[in-house]
Amino acid sequence: MNNIEQIIKEAVEKIKNADIKALENLKVDYLGKNGVLTQILKSLSQYSVEDKKKIGAQANKAKSIIESEIENRKIFLKQVLLDEKMQKEKLDYSQSFYFPFPKGHFHPVAQTIQDIIVVFKSLGFSVVEGPEIETDWYNFGALNIPENHPARDTQDTFYLDGMKNLLRTHTSPGQIHTMEQHQPPVKVIVPGRVYRNEASDASHSATFHQVEGLAVDENITFVDLKAVLTDFARKFFVSELDIRFRPSHFQFTEPSAEVDMRCMLCGGKGCRVCKNLGWIEILGCGMVHTNVLKAVKYDADRYTGYAFGIGVERIAMLKYGIDDIRLFYENDLRFLKQF
Ligand code: DAH
Repeated sequence: MNNIEQIIKEAVEKIKNADIKALENLKVDYLGKNGVLTQILKSLSQYSVEDKKKIGAQANKAKSIIESEIENRKIFLKQVLLDEKMQKEKLDYSQSFYFPFPKGHFHPVAQTIQDIIVVFKSLGFSVVEGPEIETDWYNFGALNIPENHPARDTQDTFYLDGMKNLLRTHTSPGQIHTMEQHQPPVKVIVPGRVYRNEASDASHSATFHQVEGLAVDENITFVDLKAVLTDFARKFFVSELDIRFRPSHFQFTEPSAEVDMRCMLCGGKGCRVCKNLGWIEILGCGMVHTNVLKAVKYDADRYTGYAFGIGVERIAMLKYGIDDIRLFYENDLRFLKQF
């Protein structure tokens, strides 16, 4: 009996300091087929009935004590391991405060859109957005570009759902949405991303950005258009900027014009950047075509309006002297950090 007490004491002591592997060995040593306690139980036959009972009971008790001590120690060790692992993987939420993460900033395209918005807001325009997925009607039809019209040639795009929908080739459909939803007076700009089915090179990209402008009311004339766009160009570039309105053609405006600015690089003498013209085109514009007003059921006898479209990358390139549009989309930090 004393022997069994001794065995328990000794086992408990060993279990206390055992690691997972040692626990397995102890289990074998005490409870295994040839373990100490199994031996005792096997040898019971040599004792008297009385002793057999006592020793047997004692040995079984020892067995269950040692068994549960081993189990408890196992659970404890597993918890310790888990705690250690958690400690190692713990996130230190205070760390970002001290971590030298560089502060980011707006992408030059986003920044340019913001700069354009600021100028037009100061001139009384509201900002609205339109969907990038359009129907043929919004992108072409309502803008006086009928099917099979050659004006579509320069605006090939990506079609979706058969030919039902397409990615807008310009922000001009924003004009249609605005007029469908509001009666005059309207005075909005529509910034956004546009798409063309085009191979990319230094001055072309299948994805780029525009800011559309539209103002419709009674008595709006070309004078208003000239004033607003001259103001914009001088606020966006430099206050002394020399600009001109050159006759042009767009299906959705009549008359149409393109606005050029005097080449800032050569002062108008002619250079590589302005292709020896002395002038650089910065945007397209015109008086809203009566067919467009009619398409949105505006009273074309009562209302007139002007519209314009600005290529965001284009004027950012002019402002910052960037010679390849692809730089905007490569996410090369050496480029982006300069803004
Ligand atoms: N939508 C034309 C384009 O992408 C740009 C444009 C020209 C917009 C004249 C206008 C405008 O609103 O009046 O080429």
